[in-house]
Amino acid sequence: MPLTRKVRLRPLIRRAAIERRVRAVARQITRDFRGERVHLVGVLKGACIFLADLIREIDLETSIDFIAVSSYGKGRESSGQVRLLKDLDSSIAGLNVILVEDILDTGMTLNYLLRVLSQRRPRTLRVAALLDKPSRRVRTVAAEYVGFTIPDEFVVGYGLDFAERYRNLKDICIWKGATPASRADESA
Ligand code: IMP
Ligand code: MG
Repeated sequence: MPLTRKVRLRPLIRRAAIERRVRAVARQITRDFRGERVHLVGVLKGACIFLADLIREIDLETSIDFIAVSSYGKGRESSGQVRLLKDLDSSIAGLNVILVEDILDTGMTLNYLLRVLSQRRPRTLRVAALLDKPSRRVRTVAAEYVGFTIPDEFVVGYGLDFAERYRNLKDICIWKGATPASRADESA
C-alpha cells in the first residue's frame, strides 16, 4: 500500500508546487549572487532532498558541504540544547554561505548554527529554508529565502521525517499520528 494512502498522512504541498517554488527560490539566489560563487551548507539529514533540487536550479558556480546537529527533546519538541554531530569538511572563510534547512520551527537549531558559522568569517551568511512555521518561533531567526510558510502542523516528506520515516514522500504531508512518549536525542 502506498505510504500516502495511510489515513495518518494528508498532503499539504504537492510535488508540482514544491518543484515550482524551489525553482523560484533558486532564481532569486542566482539573481542575488550574480557573478559570484555560492557555498551551500546542508543541515543533515532533512535538507538533503531540498538541497539536491535547489542546487541544480542555481545558475552560478557552486560548492556543497554538510553539517549535522541534534537537539535533545521529547517527541516533536526540540528542547533547544543543540549539539554538533558532524562539522563541516572545509573552511567557509570568505565564502558566500547559504545554510540550507528543511524547516524553521522554534529557531533553536538555526540560531545555534548561525552563531557557530558567523564566527568563521564567511563573506556572507544567509539561510534558505524550505518551510517556515513562524507561529512556533522562540528565537529570533529569519531566513532570507523561504519556500513555504506553513501553519503549526507536524509535516513529513520531501526530506522531513518522523522518527526517520517518510523522508521519501514526494509531497509534503501533515502527519497526524501519536507522538511516542519520549525520544532522548533527535537528529535534525
Ligand atoms: P527548530 O530548532 O525548532 O527550529 O527545529 C528545526 C528542526 O526540527 C528541523 O530541522 C527538523 O528536523 C525538526 N522539525 C521541526 N518541525 C518539524 C516538522 O513539522 N516535521 C519534521 N521535522 C520538524
Ligand atoms: Mg527531523
